[in-house]
Amino acid sequence: MDFKSKVVDLVASQVDLPKEKINQLIERPKNEKMGDYAFPAFTLAKVMHKNPAEIAQEIAANLESSDFTSIQAVGPYVNFAINHEKLITQALHEVLTEKQHYGDQKLGQGNVPIDMSSPNIAKPMSMGHLRSTVIGNSIAETLKKVGYTPIKINHLGDYGTQFGKLISAYKHWGNEEDVKKDPIMNLFKYYVKFHEEAEKHPELEDEGRAWFKKLEDGDPEAVKLWQWFRDVSLKDFKRIYKELGVEFDSYKGEAFFNDKMQPVIDELKEKGLLHESRGAQVVDMGEDESPAMIVKSDGSSIYLTRDLAAAIYRMNTYHFVKMLYVVGNEQAHHFVELKTVLKKMGYDWADEIYHVPFGLITQNGKKLSTRKGNVVFLDQVLKDAVNLARKQIDEKNPALANKEQVAHDVGVGAVVFHDLKNDRVENFDFDLDEVVRFEGDTGPYVQYTNARAQSVLRKAAKLGQEPKLDAAPVKDDWSFSVAKALADFPRIIARSSDKFEPSVIAKYALDLAKKFNKYYANVKILVEDEQINTRLALVQATSIVLTEALRLLGVNAPKEM
Ligand code: ARG
Repeated sequence: MDFKSKVVDLVASQVDLPKEKINQLIERPKNEKMGDYAFPAFTLAKVMHKNPAEIAQEIAANLESSDFTSIQAVGPYVNFAINHEKLITQALHEVLTEKQHYGDQKLGQGNVPIDMSSPNIAKPMSMGHLRSTVIGNSIAETLKKVGYTPIKINHLGDYGTQFGKLISAYKHWGNEEDVKKDPIMNLFKYYVKFHEEAEKHPELEDEGRAWFKKLEDGDPEAVKLWQWFRDVSLKDFKRIYKELGVEFDSYKGEAFFNDKMQPVIDELKEKGLLHESRGAQVVDMGEDESPAMIVKSDGSSIYLTRDLAAAIYRMNTYHFVKMLYVVGNEQAHHFVELKTVLKKMGYDWADEIYHVPFGLITQNGKKLSTRKGNVVFLDQVLKDAVNLARKQIDEKNPALANKEQVAHDVGVGAVVFHDLKNDRVENFDFDLDEVVRFEGDTGPYVQYTNARAQSVLRKAAKLGQEPKLDAAPVKDDWSFSVAKALADFPRIIARSSDKFEPSVIAKYALDLAKKFNKYYANVKILVEDEQINTRLALVQATSIVLTEALRLLGVNAPKEM
């Protein structure tokens, strides 16, 4: 049991307040010397008709526990000072017995589809899609750790008018060999060229529209090209997913819902929700909102209608308890519409749909845009990151075995970690040199700290020493600071999963790494005295938790680097 819960239990034995309430009231004393937790007695003053200081005195006088070295009233507060030795011993015991399962908990259960990544066919995957991929993946791992069954869905952008343009572009400037060689790069080139040419020759737009119409009508040539573009693009995307170590449970993209929209439109009509507005079919969103478009005036359906069909399909398929959409901030309004329309249709499960938004990645403060060709090729970003990592390894540890694998884990891990360490709704700038540094708030710093812990354990083994839980206890401040962070891990996971916020875990990993490095700088670990095995237990526990925190973020933790 963690020490905060112990404080709650102790206070609960003395006062007439529910435990949840006590838990909320407990504070950290402003001055660390006053103790680790403080219970303020103000709330009780009214009901007990006594002044808070008096109440604090009474509570403190009645409490005693070997888990705390002092329980004292200071003014209106009851202050609790943790028994360092006890916390350290307990934390090490829990981590070393539960190992990678430390922090597992049962906060919920049931299927949770996570709509994530979802890039658009025939375009390079953008940094935004990278964000969605790594944030979604980390949320999936974290939800699994607290009892849910995540289902990772790649809602590919594999349909829409842009495919008419692409087919038309391919017919003009395309070449089969080039597409086979480098699909995304070349398809994208045609697409960009189409937009350039269309400015000079507007009739191209009509041609694009005509091809899309053919595609919708099932014209064999159009369908064949579309299918081919989809296949080669997906193959390219999968290469990036493999680099990132991310797998999906479903690739049912927008096209899958082509034949599932009409029933939704019919249902909306039946329920009296659909009405006409300037030739289009819309659903009212309430007085001050503009209506949500369901069918365009030219009869074609749209993004929202597909998402309605997809949501209903997923409910029928997975009977989910929650569903998440990890999609950029700029689509916030779309998801408000989605939820509102579903609610109007009478689907109360729409309350369990969460848009999990995130901010933009900028470069030198500027937004990246696909259409203008001003785009970062993710492949290249990852390759550059791995090269930078390899360069640093060559300097620091030239003799390292399986250098390639480590360079990959460090380079790719650096990009992923950088993406996850800020609150997800914040925009951030991407500067590769910054991202792959071994010092500072980076993924490589956390990985390096873990590798350092592993190296201590290897050296210890050579001395015939190993981590043990029953050796003489330690209680110094450096150990306490590390152990306290270790003891926090389960709460950190709970908070991260509750807020769908991987940055909680990333920040925690940085904090634990910093505390461990202070410990490492101040404590001689490999001195063969009676506490050596306890110190090694602390080193091993740190490595277990750092490794697990990184795993939840989708980052590998090499044992040596
Ligand atoms: N393909 C879309 C884009 O790139 C993202 C799709 C998000 N998922 C969804 N169900 N709408 O903007």
